[in-house]
Amino acid sequence: MVGTDRSVGVGGVTLNEEAAMLFETDTLQLLAEGLETLEEGFDSLPAPEMVVSDRVRMARVMSEVACRLRDNYPYFHPLYAGQMLKPPHPIARAAYALATWINPNNHALDGGRASSAMEKEAVAEIAAMFGWKSHLGHLCGGGTMANLEALWVAGQLHPGKKIVASEQAHYTHRRISGVLGLAFAAVPCDGRGRMDANALEKMLGAGDIGGVVATVGTTGTGAVDPLPQLLCLRDRYGVRLHVDAAYGGYFTLAAHLASETRATYDLIGQADSIVIDPHKHGLQPYGCGCVLFRDPSVGALYKHESPYTYFTSSELHLGEISLECSRPGASAVALWATQRLLPLVQGGEFASLLEACREAALTLFERLKADPRWWVPFAPELDIVVWAPRSRSARRSSELSQRIFDAAASQNLHLALIRLPVRYFTSGETGLEPDQDTVLCLRSVLMKPEHRAWIDRLWETLSRVAQEVMEP
Ligand SMILES: Cc1ncc(COP(=O)(O)O)c(C=O)c1O
Repeated sequence: MVGTDRSVGVGGVTLNEEAAMLFETDTLQLLAEGLETLEEGFDSLPAPEMVVSDRVRMARVMSEVACRLRDNYPYFHPLYAGQMLKPPHPIARAAYALATWINPNNHALDGGRASSAMEKEAVAEIAAMFGWKSHLGHLCGGGTMANLEALWVAGQLHPGKKIVASEQAHYTHRRISGVLGLAFAAVPCDGRGRMDANALEKMLGAGDIGGVVATVGTTGTGAVDPLPQLLCLRDRYGVRLHVDAAYGGYFTLAAHLASETRATYDLIGQADSIVIDPHKHGLQPYGCGCVLFRDPSVGALYKHESPYTYFTSSELHLGEISLECSRPGASAVALWATQRLLPLVQGGEFASLLEACREAALTLFERLKADPRWWVPFAPELDIVVWAPRSRSARRSSELSQRIFDAAASQNLHLALIRLPVRYFTSGETGLEPDQDTVLCLRSVLMKPEHRAWIDRLWETLSRVAQEVMEP
């Protein structure tokens, strides 16, 4: 139980109306109703004898599963304000579960006719969000797999050339490049964690770069690389520009972004490829990434022979334009249902949920900035806030972060930690002794819209804990 009255309106959506339960359970009724409708569609079939295990034994195992799952941080709860973890929307949960009764495989139309059509529709809606009327794209296991496909295409089109991404880009870009047999180099960032376009230009001068990854919403701080400059460099040097918007992509729908940030979002559609993760801000269960290519002709690179599939239709199969073979049709069904309920439009319900997250982050930022106990290196561009305890040295500040992080967790406030370059803290008047290269900072990903209503509670606990740790 989390109290009795925490209902909060976000863009006309009432969140957690009763607030007497920790978990929403209406989904179970939705699922039962959906199952009935689904079954009616197959009622010309004779009923088979079900091979089902003993109910009592299953109940015992289920109880064991539920008990095992208690060994988790409460990712679903607003007091979990640490890493990028967000519960799926109830409609996604129900639609996903419903689809598992069919268990379609979106590799080929033979394995998932309806869910393949739903995938194409849902992916086209995501592409339209970036202004694309035509595209090639599909869902996949997540951001890593999606970026792998984009970098694989970059490598095919610029064989033997390097991939570069900022030093704050997701760590998997370096690893993916290695897997693809491509060299990789990191581009330095400016003091706000964004790719330094001047540094990139110097690197491009060597002529050995084939693909640039721009991150729109870095994992660590939510920084947005400057696309206006990066796109000019792309055109000048003839490289491929891939946008990794796995985390930040959906914020293109949000109002009130800072003007520099908005300028980048308005240009995402000019990139050669885009990755966005519905399993991050798109309210989906894990296992749902998405890769999009502006030029559909890159589909030719995927051409392969398979003696096993593609017998029932002459239409293009999703398996013909993706590196993975079997893929869960249930992911597509869940995404389609979510976008049907919450269309991807500016000013809509879905956009207002993102705006609530950003508002929460801005409120936390303002409070930290006004409080002499903290240093905040920069304002959040999206909904991720980083800060460090004010102290004489980088080492001491890092120790305090660790202790505050541990003490907050013991009070049910779950934050995250991040190591940031010490130069992010020494450019102003901090007087910080840079006795090590990095500062261990506190980090909060405020990616649940409920966070907006819980900021006072988060702040109260953080303040109390900081007082205990910093002024014993
Ligand atoms: C910007 C960015 N790119 C890629 C990834 C990797 O995505 P996934 O964990 O879905 O493989 C992440 C994950 O946090 C990310 O934030």
